[in-house]
Amino acid sequence: MTLTLPQNSRLMSKDFTFGVATASFQIEGANTEDGRLPSIWDTFCATPGKVFNGDDGSQACDHYHLWRKDIDLIKSLNVDAYRLSIAWPRVMFEDGTPNPKGIEFYKSLVQTLQNEGLKVFVTLYHWDLPQHLEDKGGWLNRETAYRFTQYADLMTRELSPWVDYWATFNEPFCAALLGYEYGIHAPGLAKPEYGRQAAHHILLAHGLSMPVIRKNCPKAQAGIVLNMNRSYAASDKTEDQFAALVRETLDNQFFIEPLLKGQYPRLLKDILPHYLPSVLPGDMALIQAPLDFLGLNFYTCNHNAYDPDTLFKDVKRGGDVEYTDIGWEVAPQAFTELLVNLNKQYDLPPMYITENGAACADQVENGEVEDKQRVRYLNSHLNAVHKAIEAGVDIRGYFAWSLMDNFEWAEGYSKRFGLIYVDYETQERTIKQSGHAYRSFLKERS
Ligand code: NOJ
Repeated sequence: MTLTLPQNSRLMSKDFTFGVATASFQIEGANTEDGRLPSIWDTFCATPGKVFNGDDGSQACDHYHLWRKDIDLIKSLNVDAYRLSIAWPRVMFEDGTPNPKGIEFYKSLVQTLQNEGLKVFVTLYHWDLPQHLEDKGGWLNRETAYRFTQYADLMTRELSPWVDYWATFNEPFCAALLGYEYGIHAPGLAKPEYGRQAAHHILLAHGLSMPVIRKNCPKAQAGIVLNMNRSYAASDKTEDQFAALVRETLDNQFFIEPLLKGQYPRLLKDILPHYLPSVLPGDMALIQAPLDFLGLNFYTCNHNAYDPDTLFKDVKRGGDVEYTDIGWEVAPQAFTELLVNLNKQYDLPPMYITENGAACADQVENGEVEDKQRVRYLNSHLNAVHKAIEAGVDIRGYFAWSLMDNFEWAEGYSKRFGLIYVDYETQERTIKQSGHAYRSFLKERS
């Protein structure tokens, strides 16, 4: 099975970046080693009933020890770039002083990646907040935004020569809403008024740290990564159309509009004013700091019917629909539409698809993993990106999620997203059929 794009596709040109992505808590393990402090995800995992099977991040893919071998695997896939994240609790002590051992780990990692000719994309925050900051209110406490800026200052100074792209945050929606409003991610708080306030403080932390990153890394590109689904109405009925609009406003526009237009969506002021966070004078101007790039993580779409209490509710689409192992609809067409719509609505900076991928119930048989669905998924989504570029969207790169199977948050290790299979007992890695397909596709391109 192969990945195929039209021959004249922009994706086939050398200046389009292809990569694979991971995140610290999901792969590193070694969560008490070399002075690493507990993160909110360690606490959440230790809370009964929060994570499937009681799984935790103590070992994960043991990448903290196996990182050199993992870089060999990354190289073997013929990618141009690797996207990783830094664990804040590994690199800073509670009093704000640096942890030299933790910093050394990331320094060796990014130096080696650069020596291997890979472009280095680093995300500063992929959800592993130090627990001691959560104890003081976490993202509900405005002070956390200032603490984040100190951390961003430290790491961008330390790693400046080796990092090409800095993203402040990965998916503020998940960090804030899943963590503070729905309670299904760490820290597991669940109050309607918490989610948007946490989100505002995350966006503020982004805005405060952007000038710091630019000062410390004048040659690097600085931006942020958002997750978005395409929201459809369940029917042509006006109320369902309205439900889809509310969903899209709450999930997508609430994050992109402050970044690119310096305001929260008007619709919220009109229909859900209690959802608006408290904002201090000057915050929105900081949040609107110019972006060198915007990362977009895309997986699926949703369908919405009107509900008098919640305004929208998720409904499954009828008919012949394909789902992945995590229950997400496969919707490449929605990917193109989302990108094209954003391009109409906003003056977008250069875009990178910083994550895209599928969870499949993979198994090793005779030393091989035949993940046919993932190959199909990658193929259709790469073609969806191609179509969006043809329609005028400035997309510069694509990262498959993920390099290897890893800790899938509340799902623990039960969901596998990797191009490489991980046997968690032996830490053996096996390149799946999708990894081979990606590798051949990228070889052909070069
Ligand atoms: C987005 C997140 O950034 C990543 O951590 C997660 O594993 C994937 N989506 C799949 O759910």
